Amino acid sequence: MNQPFALSPRTRATLAHDFAWGVATSAYQIEGAAQEDGKAPSIWDTFSHTPGKTARGETGDLACDHYHRWPGDVALMADIGVDAYRFSIAWSRVQPLGHGAWNEAGLAFYDKLVDALLARGIRPSATLYHWDLPQGLQDRGGWAARDTALRFAEYAERIGRYLGDRLATLSTHNEPWCTATLGHERGQFAPGDRDPALAADVSHHLLLSHGLALQALRAAGCTTPLGIVLNQSSVTAATDSPADRARAATEYASFVRWYMDPIFQGAYPQDAGIAHYPRNVQPGDFAIIGQPLDFLGINYYTRIWASTATPPVPAPCAQGASDMGWEIYPEGLTELLTGLQQRYMGLPPIYLMENGMANADSLVDGRVADDKRIDYMRGHIEAIARAREAGVDIRGFFYWSLLDNYEWDSGYAKRFGLVHVDYATQQRTLKDSALWYRDAIASVRGEPAHG
Ligand code: FCB
Repeated sequence: MNQPFALSPRTRATLAHDFAWGVATSAYQIEGAAQEDGKAPSIWDTFSHTPGKTARGETGDLACDHYHRWPGDVALMADIGVDAYRFSIAWSRVQPLGHGAWNEAGLAFYDKLVDALLARGIRPSATLYHWDLPQGLQDRGGWAARDTALRFAEYAERIGRYLGDRLATLSTHNEPWCTATLGHERGQFAPGDRDPALAADVSHHLLLSHGLALQALRAAGCTTPLGIVLNQSSVTAATDSPADRARAATEYASFVRWYMDPIFQGAYPQDAGIAHYPRNVQPGDFAIIGQPLDFLGINYYTRIWASTATPPVPAPCAQGASDMGWEIYPEGLTELLTGLQQRYMGLPPIYLMENGMANADSLVDGRVADDKRIDYMRGHIEAIARAREAGVDIRGFFYWSLLDNYEWDSGYAKRFGLVHVDYATQQRTLKDSALWYRDAIASVRGEPAHG
């Protein structure tokens, strides 16, 4: 164990039981094989191939070639010693158009992956939707169309029947805020729309599809723990001024409460400063959206800093910032989790489904010395322990990501992995952070560190 970064004895004790250590990825970011074995394009294939949409025009056509290299990648996870692996299913690989025929070759890929994980004692945690809508559904209106929510429920049920008995968890959506806001309001992600009113409608259909999927899965007898993964942040007002405090409240309402309130309280937040509400709410929708969850997935990277000044007061970044420019602020994770617990009654168990940092890593003589990432991980794991000690029922930590991969519109330059990927050769190298994580997991389990 790298002593300066060792987890504190208190944290090791706090997280010693009922806590899963994992790593996370998503389909479009690692699989490649964009057109193989019957896979049809998703909106991310279309978007990344549209000039000007991604850094250097990079696409996920090859990515980490995980579609072919998955046995080695599973072996890497076993080397690190994780309990669990979170991955997503590419909808257009298993149902090319998003409606109609299923693709047995695509289904078989996930079948083999899940069995290989189980054979290594790694629990598979699947996500149904990590942003890669089949283009065939986009052509019929995408998430702006209510019908897409119905198609999503059919897809969920098919996956539940096919893999459900072998999955540790099944999540409907990953970060619906990104699909709605980055994809339909800011144009930064696929499908690239810039229409705030549409984005609000899309957020409602995403939530509706989540509820319909849970209903369909449970009606089909699926006993896998079911949930959703939301990206969330603590929010800090830059100053004590009424304007900054109001801005902070609006940020929290539109980022965190926008998805939490409908699921747990049956309504969208009615807060000052929210400009657009869904125009497509139908009677009974909130009852569908509010299906009970077996777990809640949360992704946390940084806090939101709310300033109304011009120019804005910058975030302090006292602990630095990642290569994405995101402030490093582990205390925000404790604040977020304890705040949720106070606000929402009867929350299900929580998994931190993503947390990690991009770092400007370099491979030198076969080694990546990424102490900044180790410090980031240590800080956030300590923050989870503090939340657990305060009574938050948190059951796991998934580092984003197992591998360096395709970081959406940023392309391949942003490296989040525990494992370095040389994109020219597809060679994988465990970074120092992977070795640290391996030893940290062992230390919590009370096992000896590896050499
Ligand atoms: C999250 C995404 C994930 C990855 C990380 C850095 O918002 O879910 O795919 O891009 O950010």
